[in-house]
Amino acid sequence: MYLAVDLGGTNFRVCSVNLSGDSKFTLTQSKAAIPKWMMTSDSHTLFSFLAQQVKLFVEEHHGDHFAETPDHHLQLGFTFSFPVDQRAVNKGYLIRWTKGFDIADAIGKDVCELLQKEIDVLGIPVTVAALVNDTVGTLMARSYTSPGKTGTLLGAIFGTGTNGAYLEKLSKITKMAKPDSGFGEYDKSTGEMVVNIEWGSFDNSLAVLPDTPYDRQLDKNSVNPGIQMLEKRISGMFLGEILRNAILGLKQDVDLFSTAEIKEDAALNTPWSVDTSVLSYIEADDSEDLTKAKSVLEEQLGVPAAHVSTEEARAVKILAHAIGKRSARLSAVPIAAVLVATGKVKQSEPLVPMQSLSLLEQVIRAIKSIFIGQPPVVDVPATGTTVKSDKDAATAKEELEVIDIGVDGSVVEFYPGFEGFVREALREVPEVGADNERRIRMGVAKDGSGVGAALIALVAAKMAGIPAAVSAVEL
Ligand code: GLC
Repeated sequence: MYLAVDLGGTNFRVCSVNLSGDSKFTLTQSKAAIPKWMMTSDSHTLFSFLAQQVKLFVEEHHGDHFAETPDHHLQLGFTFSFPVDQRAVNKGYLIRWTKGFDIADAIGKDVCELLQKEIDVLGIPVTVAALVNDTVGTLMARSYTSPGKTGTLLGAIFGTGTNGAYLEKLSKITKMAKPDSGFGEYDKSTGEMVVNIEWGSFDNSLAVLPDTPYDRQLDKNSVNPGIQMLEKRISGMFLGEILRNAILGLKQDVDLFSTAEIKEDAALNTPWSVDTSVLSYIEADDSEDLTKAKSVLEEQLGVPAAHVSTEEARAVKILAHAIGKRSARLSAVPIAAVLVATGKVKQSEPLVPMQSLSLLEQVIRAIKSIFIGQPPVVDVPATGTTVKSDKDAATAKEELEVIDIGVDGSVVEFYPGFEGFVREALREVPEVGADNERRIRMGVAKDGSGVGAALIALVAAKMAGIPAAVSAVEL
């Protein structure tokens, strides 16, 4: 039994996970909303709040463990879903905040130490054993639970933020090998390493990303202008605000909702107050007169339904659909880039030795093919794809089979038709195409970050020779 905590979205989750092997687990969890003001407070305020939640949880669910074995520290996997410079399994320095958090004094600090210090102040026997990004947790959890023998290639989050983690060959990770890198010794036995891509920050210079006045306004009013530009077009934290900006734009330009009286403090007039679920509800309303959409406009945006014509509701539906579909199509971009860069997709006659391009170059190509319809640049035909032996043939066949991807997050889980739009866009990337798109098995890794953090805490504790706790349930 391992503890796992998860900071990175709107809630802080604490859970204990019983890993029973054979792809199985049971999980007990509690959830606390992070007060908005705390997201921009100071590190002591935030981390002491987190430690307090851990204390409440262990007292409620594992009181007997402390009574019976007070000296045994429970091992905790810390899912901390922000960019960190990770130096060890339980050490990582915060590079920058994302998703509305902005706590200056935490930048550059080891976040495991910040949490451990506050846990120690409360005197609870819990050790922060591992630091995990939610995408890495999702990758681990999906690998543990996915059906069959196929390994999982990618763990991806499409929720409050967006990001992915995938398995890369060590030989391709050059920064680790540099003598002055400061990474020291690390385990090279598998020849692979999990890479947290932080793809939310691709193309911050907007060289290829689609851009509208509504995106520009959102970025200007965000706590981190000019960064996380891909994330700001994909993830749940931002889609509601893009819609709000777009509706206000139409109101001004073409007199949308001209007969409705909208209060000054209505959600439509309040930055960051429109939830992404608004888009999902409107998108899902297929009724003739858009009754549901109109009531959502009234309840969630403060636009009186009696003064919304069906034509106006339809206009909002077109906007919501465009924003949601763009998010899904952009989500296909980094997925396609990983498929190509890892050599998972191979065309019979590849136009370029694709794997030789960097992940970033793959992203740019994918954006161009999905959004501009630009054909790939024809380069030298790839060589060395000939199958030489039975073993090669078996490997080639295996490679042509399932490509397993673990996903998690409110957008992919709840936005109507999201996966369908992602797949449609994947088929349009020439290097992927319909045949390869069909091979992709996308599965929601439910509770992925909790289970993933527990799995990594297990590995870390095993390496350190610390025995696991056995829960009362197992006894
Ligand atoms: C943001 C974070 C990243 C996280 C993602 C999904 O992009 O920077 O670390 O994985 O959100 O939660």
